[in-house]
Amino acid sequence: MKEHIPHIPVLLDEVIKNFKGMNGGYFVDCTLGYGGHSSAVLKAYPDIFLIGIDRDSEALEFSRKRLTDFQERAVFYKGTFSHIFSTLQESPIVGVLADFGVSSLQFDKLERGFSFESDALDMRMDQESKLSAYEVINTYSQTDLERIFKDYGEIKEYKALALEVIKARSKEPIKSAKKLSELSKNIIKRGKIHPATLFFQAIRIEVNAELQEIELLLDAIEKMHTKGMIVSFITFHSLEDRIVKNRFTKWSKACICDDLALRCTCSRDNNRGKVLHKKPVIASEKEIKMNPRSRSAKLRTFIFTKNAKGF
Ligand SMILES: C[S@@+](CC[C@H](N)C(=O)[O-])C[C@H]1O[C@@H](n2cnc3c(N)ncnc32)[C@H](O)[C@@H]1O
Repeated sequence: MKEHIPHIPVLLDEVIKNFKGMNGGYFVDCTLGYGGHSSAVLKAYPDIFLIGIDRDSEALEFSRKRLTDFQERAVFYKGTFSHIFSTLQESPIVGVLADFGVSSLQFDKLERGFSFESDALDMRMDQESKLSAYEVINTYSQTDLERIFKDYGEIKEYKALALEVIKARSKEPIKSAKKLSELSKNIIKRGKIHPATLFFQAIRIEVNAELQEIELLLDAIEKMHTKGMIVSFITFHSLEDRIVKNRFTKWSKACICDDLALRCTCSRDNNRGKVLHKKPVIASEKEIKMNPRSRSAKLRTFIFTKNAKGF
């Protein structure tokens, strides 16, 4: 395929290495994007069959074309990974990958409204979904705006920022990401990162229910994992990483008795498998230089040694 590939997959070699041992079965790429990870997995593991999921039609169509050489070994589904994953009938699923966040193309295309320079105010990963950043910013109550700026952006000045939005929109609707970015400069004074970074992160998380999606995907995996299944997650900020880390800790625990219990009354046999690396894998200096987006990426992997019934 000669077409320009608009997204560089992060931690590619590390991801491929994680899945060694996969021998036949289905590999689910929950965030297919532009197919970078999936095409490398299909090449490295000739016996596996790919299930590619994305909620963005544009990304899905791009990958469908990019992966035509593998069409006998791949199916594609449009939708949220939490929903599609919980309805999969294919078996056995031996590998699951999720590379969270937005793709470079979503970010770079100004009309998608993810960038600070954009004249649009959208931020939907799925362009058919109902809630966009425009509704969030122009219709949410002050309390709800405060909640998302605090919980999803961890912005200290969340109250002042919500008030700034309410004041601005009382004059006329806020129609662009550019305008929003300017508003944040009045309130958030930070050194290293652009003042709108966390502000935009918070809105994007709300628009796409990003954290709920991760929790629901983990719930679905918890209900149906098979013995030997390998799951790898790439996160890009601490809110995402915390959810994955906590769930892996839960899955690794042998004893599930209350912390205050005087003695253990469970079988001490509740662990479902093991975490592959104690510390998350991060990008090398070389990769960060080549692809600055990889700077905040963290890769965590869990290997199930039991199925969901505990055997
Ligand atoms: C970082 S990109 C993935 C890039 C991909 N690994 C590659 O190599 O090209 C994330 C992709 O996941 C998709 N996505 C994010 N959250 C999703 C969700 N809850 N359900 C389905 N797709 C999602 C986005 O639309 C985006 O295309």
